[in-house]
Amino acid sequence: MSEQTGKVVVMDHPLIRHKIGYIRRTTTGTKDFRDTISEIAMLICYEATRDLELQEVEIETPICKTTVRELKGRKLCIVPILRAGLGMVDGMLAMIPAAKVGHIGLYRDPGTLQPVEYYCKIPPDSGNREIFIVDPMLATGGSIAAAVQMLKERGCKHIHLLCILAAPEGIEYLQKTHPDVDLYIGEVDERLNDHGYIVPGLGDAGDRIFGTK
Ligand code: PRP
Ligand code: URA
Repeated sequence: MSEQTGKVVVMDHPLIRHKIGYIRRTTTGTKDFRDTISEIAMLICYEATRDLELQEVEIETPICKTTVRELKGRKLCIVPILRAGLGMVDGMLAMIPAAKVGHIGLYRDPGTLQPVEYYCKIPPDSGNREIFIVDPMLATGGSIAAAVQMLKERGCKHIHLLCILAAPEGIEYLQKTHPDVDLYIGEVDERLNDHGYIVPGLGDAGDRIFGTK
């Protein structure tokens, strides 16, 4: 049986383009950066949930009985990668308020660029949930590939990634290591620099969200 291949969806919506342009600017301060990351997450969430299944339900409006379509079945779980992924959680929850939230703690060693794990807590029934990993930056892909691996080891099967900026190197790495994961990407940039930063990028997303630099 052949392995299922995930989708790669790059957003082409003008609102997303405009907002990404705004957060790239060095002049955008912490509050505006954080607020805009949240808004972009909300917009990408709209696209990433396009294939969720619906079911017909009989209801009564003030006028008459009718049939409406509501979200069906499998429950959802948002998993931010700490720290920067936290910036996308509120935007996601604004769209899917009933979702559970797991957390994965990973940071990228600045010397080796390898991901270092420090935390993982997800809902016990995550294997039956549709998982939405959120992290604004897909650079080498090491952190997100490690997060996917951690989730798969805990039984997760239906995994989607939402990120704001991606380098071609990171997309390629993720497709090689976890070809089954669907990728929803705000914008694809040119390349990585010698320090593993996305070019032109937006700098260090975690530091810009939390004002730590
Ligand atoms: C950033 C970002 C990703 C990772 C991407 O996190 O949020 O998790 O780097 O890089 P990669 O694709 O090369 O692995 P960082 O390690 O800076 O941690 P932070 O969010 O705590 O600042
Ligand atoms: N992590 C970031 O926050 N920014 C980059 O450009 C690469 C990794």
